[in-house]
Amino acid sequence: MSTWNVVITVKDIEWKTHLLDMTGHEEKSIIDVAEENWIELPYSCRSGACFSCCAEVTKWKEHLDLEKTGEALIDVEDNECLTCICGIKKEVFTSGEQVEIEIEMLN
Ligand code: FES
Repeated sequence: MSTWNVVITVKDIEWKTHLLDMTGHEEKSIIDVAEENWIELPYSCRSGACFSCCAEVTKWKEHLDLEKTGEALIDVEDNECLTCICGIKKEVFTSGEQVEIEIEMLN
């Protein structure tokens, strides 16, 4: 049984807040987990090549693996991530920490 708990609070462009529980989703991107939970977030290429899925990370960026499911083909700002390829760092899942990451969609 897992002892960790990782939740991402996602603010969309209309300032609606969604909670994404990443438990059991160690290998998935934020967009993939959102979809599985019927949360619609913007995307286009889903391969790190556009800005459609870009988000500002406002809390705990150090717990994110920016290239979890693919390689970024464009540069983003230091405080941003591409949610189609970004997921949680493995170390967070094994640490037993309670982690609450916050991101704000830019599109
Ligand atoms: S959807 Fe294009 S970079 Fe994520």
